[in-house]
Amino acid sequence: MNVSIYETDKSNASRAFELMRLAFNEQRGFVDPEPSIFRGDSIRSISSDIDKKEKRLIVALHRSRLLGAVFCGADKNNPTEDFYFSHLAIRPRYRNNGVGRQLVEEIESTARSEKAKRVTCAVRIALRQNVSLFEHLGYEIVGEGTHAGFDSPTYYNMAKVL
Ligand SMILES: CC(C)(COP(=O)(O)OP(=O)(O)OC[C@H]1O[C@@H](n2cnc3c(N)ncnc32)[C@H](O)[C@@H]1OP(=O)(O)O)[C@@H](O)C(=O)NCCC(=O)NCCS
Repeated sequence: MNVSIYETDKSNASRAFELMRLAFNEQRGFVDPEPSIFRGDSIRSISSDIDKKEKRLIVALHRSRLLGAVFCGADKNNPTEDFYFSHLAIRPRYRNNGVGRQLVEEIESTARSEKAKRVTCAVRIALRQNVSLFEHLGYEIVGEGTHAGFDSPTYYNMAKVL
């Protein structure tokens, strides 16, 4: 399958938001707190963040159909060295076709061009299959974090040295 991967502007924010909600919907009721795309994010807030360059949006398209989307940017915890990604979302029917890998590789290439030393992401502890998937892609667990209001860790911080 021929997939185009590229960074885009806020003109794609609306359909990326809808795709992220579709992709993360299956985790509702299974992860706690529920995925952040259902907690406060909106098309308006995402468009504004992209416009202000607080978030970058990378998409995967096949014949103009949006198959995948992900946010990325300098990691606020260590902006000079770390480049993060979040909300990696692949349309359910198109999973297990290497599109997620291609988006992660595009993020890593972008991070290299920004002279970052590591790529980082946060992965829910409850989603063992995602932890394994990112380990398969070269990421390691480097810490853990706890969502506000929870009394034990809810996510791992994972990183890949470039
Ligand atoms: C997680 C997700 C992004 C993966 O996308 P995808 O397009 O299906 O992933 P790919 O097909 O590119 O697979 C990537 C690699 O991981 C491997 N992989 C898949 N599941 C795995 C698992 N449970 N353990 C280890 N490796 C796994 C694949 O074999 C592939 O490796 P390869 O390229 O060496 O063959 C997708 O399932 C999704 O959108 N899930 C819902 C949202 C979500 O949870 N996002 C991640 C938030 S942290």
